[in-house]
Amino acid sequence: MRTDHGLPLVRLGLIGAGRIGTMHAGNIARHVPGAELAAVADARPEAAEKLAARYGTEAQDVDGLLKDVDGVVITSIAAAHLDLIQRAAAAGKPVWCEKPASLTLEEIDQAIAATDAAGVAFQVGFNRRFAKDFAAARRTVEDGGIGTPQLMRSITRDPGPATLRAGIPPWTIFRETLIHDFDTLLWLNPGARPVEVFTKADALVAPEYKNDGLLDTAVVLITFDNGAIATAEANFSALYGYDVRGEVFGSKGMVVTGGLPSSPLVHYDANGLRQQTFRSDEEMFRDAYVQELADFAEVVRGNAAPPVTGADARNALRVALAAIASYEENRPVRIEELG
Ligand SMILES: NC(=O)c1ccc[n+]([C@@H]2O[C@H](COP(=O)([O-])OP(=O)(O)OC[C@H]3O[C@@H](n4cnc5c(N)ncnc54)[C@H](O)[C@@H]3O)[C@@H](O)[C@H]2O)c1
Repeated sequence: MRTDHGLPLVRLGLIGAGRIGTMHAGNIARHVPGAELAAVADARPEAAEKLAARYGTEAQDVDGLLKDVDGVVITSIAAAHLDLIQRAAAAGKPVWCEKPASLTLEEIDQAIAATDAAGVAFQVGFNRRFAKDFAAARRTVEDGGIGTPQLMRSITRDPGPATLRAGIPPWTIFRETLIHDFDTLLWLNPGARPVEVFTKADALVAPEYKNDGLLDTAVVLITFDNGAIATAEANFSALYGYDVRGEVFGSKGMVVTGGLPSSPLVHYDANGLRQQTFRSDEEMFRDAYVQELADFAEVVRGNAAPPVTGADARNALRVALAAIASYEENRPVRIEELG
């Protein structure tokens, strides 16, 4: 069956009806060309039913969903990703999975092995790669436009005030937040490999959770085998908005991506000037989130290979795990130490 866009219809099932799953469900139902939200599942059936009802589709359990779709979009908590990837692969369905695709190297290796063995595509949700400015930065670096990368920077400051609470896993800032920055830095330095990582991190936003191990502020220094020196930094409470930026400085110039203003409008008055800022990832990366699933729909149709792979997820995770080891041991950690 063809759709309004002239593309063969792709029926996608979404597993994980939480915050980001709700956004992806809306994108599949309304914005991804040639896609249909065919079913929704969640460990909390009431969440699946509510989300499915919003888009006039069916809530199912995972096994039922897997029988009935062309491809699977996994947006559950990270701890459930491996099991869901393995089940989707066993059902022979192409898989798209939110970052972090897995929390340990053993898990990501099992996820890659399961999808490879089943011969199904496996795409991972590093959405920044699909933002127009980040994609243009990568093309510029690849084309030699900034020469040899020497200094790199990637920033994620989540919009504040942060709503931190006990029970958030201590390593969230590395495995769930900075994993975006690690992927971005690896991707913006094509062909180079990370060599060593050194971390400084603290609980400056919510010191009351430091004893639980919850860190909310971090800087990670990464050195690459082409000589580039990079920093990735994160904080959970930027009161002025969602602040995501990237920069590659090289022998011939520099590219800068991301930024705060959500509109070019600048309002000048007696107090000075003001600009509006992005207030969430959903606002800042609206188009990128649609594009990554539009690309996945093409993968499901058999027209393209996954633009972000399990190997990419593994490479970013290795940096995250090295960053955690560096924090714990307060020393530089070589990536090769992780195997
Ligand atoms: N790419 C991005 O910008 C971005 C942004 C936010 C979150 N994420 C990622 O998306 C994932 C989900 O994050 P969130 O903020 O939506 O979390 P959330 O806690 O709001 O939602 C997670 C959902 O998963 C469900 N769930 C838990 N175990 C399950 C299982 N075994 N089977 C099916 N459903 C299960 C929960 O019931 C919940 O509805 C995480 O991996 C997170 O890192 C990515």
